[in-house]
Formats: sequence, structure tokens, C-alpha cells
Amino acid sequence: MGDAVSDQWGTGDVLGRVLEAMRASGLPTDSTTVEALVPVDHFHARGFKSTQELADNLPVKPGDRLVDIGCGIGGPARYLAQRFDCRVEGIDITPPFVTAGNHLSALTGMQDRVKIVLGDGQHLPYPDQSFDGGYSQHVTMNIADRDRFFAEAFRVLRPGAFFALTEHGLGQGGPVHHPVPWSDDGSHEHLMTPEDTVTRLKAAGFERIRLSETGPKYLEGYRRMMELAAKGDLPRLGVHILLGPDAPAKTRNAAWNIEEGRTRPIEILCFRPV
Ligand SMILES: C[S@@+](CC[C@H](N)C(=O)[O-])C[C@H]1O[C@@H](n2cnc3c(N)ncnc32)[C@H](O)[C@@H]1O
Repeated sequence: MGDAVSDQWGTGDVLGRVLEAMRASGLPTDSTTVEALVPVDHFHARGFKSTQELADNLPVKPGDRLVDIGCGIGGPARYLAQRFDCRVEGIDITPPFVTAGNHLSALTGMQDRVKIVLGDGQHLPYPDQSFDGGYSQHVTMNIADRDRFFAEAFRVLRPGAFFALTEHGLGQGGPVHHPVPWSDDGSHEHLMTPEDTVTRLKAAGFERIRLSETGPKYLEGYRRMMELAAKGDLPRLGVHILLGPDAPAKTRNAAWNIEEGRTRPIEILCFRPV
């Protein structure tokens, strides 16, 4: 199952494509900044804006150690490490993302504070209670064993640590239109209603669970991307280079699913009890 999920997200020379897009947009490729990569390395609905807003609510202190489960090419990890002067360990199941992520961390001089390893969020390679906080942005749509995923997150967090989650939850509006970024045809898709997600988080032991619906904000982001694409104005450096040739269809369907209530995007913040 790992291979199929990772093939959905990224195959081939992802790093080469990012470097090529950097060159095409006039950026140097031997060194860069966390800010310069923002258009391409926050690989989720609304990109960097969502990460910023999520970060605004996270109780992170300088020197903290965080885990980013399903970190992609590491934009959110680098941003949080820089913003809070903390360290972030990222884990992702897609090999070319791990390669690209670590290379981009080195280009931004963040390699000592952001480390990315290859692995499955359902089996975290970290000791118990290693982290002061954790987050997972737009990953759980592909997680078959949600209970195991949440139990693993809980296990590696220290008592009192936060866990933040963003995802496309399942709505009541009927079957999901495909392709979407997480699945071309419904395979390896494991959407869950927000209510079910909260129940599973509680069962894993999390408390103080705060849920917000993010659908309207995501729609704005998808519509903006579709407008730019229609005008041929998409920037050279953007997440469409990670989504691949089906980017327009995936973006349109992601928006359509929200509009018709087939998906219900959410953001959750919760805590491991002290
Ligand atoms: C939409 S991308 C989000 C990437 C990153 N969180 C971000 O926001 O920039 C989804 C990511 O989840 C990863 N992923 C999916 N299933 C995973 C699993 N079981 N374990 C670890 N990573 C996984 C994919 O490889 C992909 O990088």
C-alpha cells in the first residue's frame, strides 16, 4: 500500500522539477531562503496561508522539538523551525519528497533544525514521548488505519503536547468526484467524517479537542488557483508542479467536492493530557 500512496503523491525527479521551476522564476539554486520556497513547498489547500494560520494557534516555544507526520517536501517544517526557533523532525512515505525536502533544507541552511526521514505515519520510528508537539497537514485522507495513526502520534508526544491536524473530511453530499490530489480514482482513499475523526482522537487519548471547518477558506484558495490557470498566469514555482499534469482536474474536483458537501475540510487542535 505504501508504494501506491507514494506514487499518488510524487514520482520521478521531484527535486529536479522544483530546481528547474526555481531557475525559471529567477531564483538561485545553490542557496535560497525559507520565504522564497513558500509558493511550492506548502503542499496543501491554500498553501502557506493555511500553515501560517495553523501556526498562529500552536503553543510552540524556542528549543521545542516537533514532529511533522506526512511532511511532504518540508515547507511547513522549515517555516515552523524558523518562526519558533525550534527543531522539526519530518517523516514522509514518498521517497522523492524526502530527497527533495532534505536538499531544500540544506539550501536554506536549515539542515540542522529540520530532518526528514522516509517512513509511514502509522509506524513512527521515534521513542515514546519524544516531542513537544506534532502536526499532520492533509495526510490522513490516505490513512487506512486511522486508530493506529492517532495512537502513534499520541505515543511519541510528551504529556501536555499539542497535536494539530488538517484534512478533507467526508461529507454527506454523495460520492467524491475524482481525481483529487490524494486519489486518482478512489483507491487508497480513506476519508472519515469530522465527527468520526474526533471520536477516534478521543479514543487515542487526546483531549481539549477543538475543531474548525475550513471549507469556505479552501474554496477561495482553489478558485484563485483555477482563475490563474484559466488565464495562463500560474507562477512557474507553484504546487501544481507537484500535482502533475492532472493539476487542473484535481483542483477543480477538490473545489467541487467542497461546494457539494461531498468533503468537509477541517482543522483540529488537541492535546495529550498532562
Ligand atoms: C498533501 S501532501 C501534504 C504534505 C505536507 N504535509 C504539506 O502540507 O506540505 C500529503 C503528504 O502525505 C504523505 N503521506 C501519505 N500517506 C502517508 C503515510 N502513511 N505516512 C507518511 N506520509 C504519508 C504524502 O507522501 C504527501 O507528502
